[in-house]
Amino acid sequence: MIVARAPGRVNLIGDHTDYTGGLVLPMAIDRWTEVRGERRGRQVVLRSADVDEPAAVPLDVVEPWLVEPPWARYVAGVVAELRPAVGFEGTVSTTIPIGSGLSSSAALEVAVATALGVEGSPLDVARLCQSAERRASGVPCGIMDQLASAGGVEGAALLIDCRALTITPIALPDDIEIVVVDSGEHRALASSVYADRVRACAQAEEQIGPLRDAKIEAVDAITDPHVRACARHVISENERVDRFSRAIAARAFHDAGLMMDDSHASLRDDYKVSTPALERCVDDLRALPGVFGARLTGAGFGGCVVALTERGAVRDTGWVVRPVAGATVIEE
Ligand code: GLA
Repeated sequence: MIVARAPGRVNLIGDHTDYTGGLVLPMAIDRWTEVRGERRGRQVVLRSADVDEPAAVPLDVVEPWLVEPPWARYVAGVVAELRPAVGFEGTVSTTIPIGSGLSSSAALEVAVATALGVEGSPLDVARLCQSAERRASGVPCGIMDQLASAGGVEGAALLIDCRALTITPIALPDDIEIVVVDSGEHRALASSVYADRVRACAQAEEQIGPLRDAKIEAVDAITDPHVRACARHVISENERVDRFSRAIAARAFHDAGLMMDDSHASLRDDYKVSTPALERCVDDLRALPGVFGARLTGAGFGGCVVALTERGAVRDTGWVVRPVAGATVIEE
């Protein structure tokens, strides 16, 4: 019997920066997807307590994006990338809300890859699972979600340089808390909006070079207003991630909170990925005493918001998440 477990993630700051080699600061959270079973047969068969139809994926699957039911596409993506010699039969369960911007799909990919015996560093696993996600969903995602799930560090957020592909743990002190609120809004348009923004960033880079290296003044040379605004978000967001990480280390929590507020405003006004439901959640959180700052987290267009708070400040709205270690396998 094999038990493999992979956490979801919440991103504290640094959204829509990973696919241009920028900076992000996610943490793996104490919500997991677990795969249990045995390696055998010529298929990967997983039953889920939450969905009627099981995933049954042959080891030679060629078009993961066509597999039914839709959740099985992520399993198929991993099988197509990993090509394990032996199949798997078992169950999958999760405590991560599905489709809420907490990387339930990345956790599923990482848990399946781990159960199937993937080898290598967290970065190797993350790269394989990022390719699996792209194949399964067609969304040109970056590496943040899979790397946070595979490479989580207990007690710390992960400062990831998506160009150098390095992880620097940023310890989160005990007197602050990370609170997540689900807007309840399903991320319906997220994939087409996401692909549009990836294209806009590529266009910006054609005009002014790598956004990671660009100075904010450089955006003035971009003619298309949408492309210019997207570039402004990315360049300013990279800088905020760097400043936020240093503010947390220096215990300057008020400053860190203001940077989260600025990040949200940039995602709303320049990147245009907020919604009225996300705005309401952010406003409600900011009105509470002890909340330093709040922002949408992940791709946007629904999903969750995240807040930085004093310990115990928020109890009735949302839930406190704790930073945990990345994926593990227990072979029994
Ligand atoms: C999704 C993608 C990530 C990242 C975020 C936005 O979660 O999977 O790669 O781009 O959106 O920061």
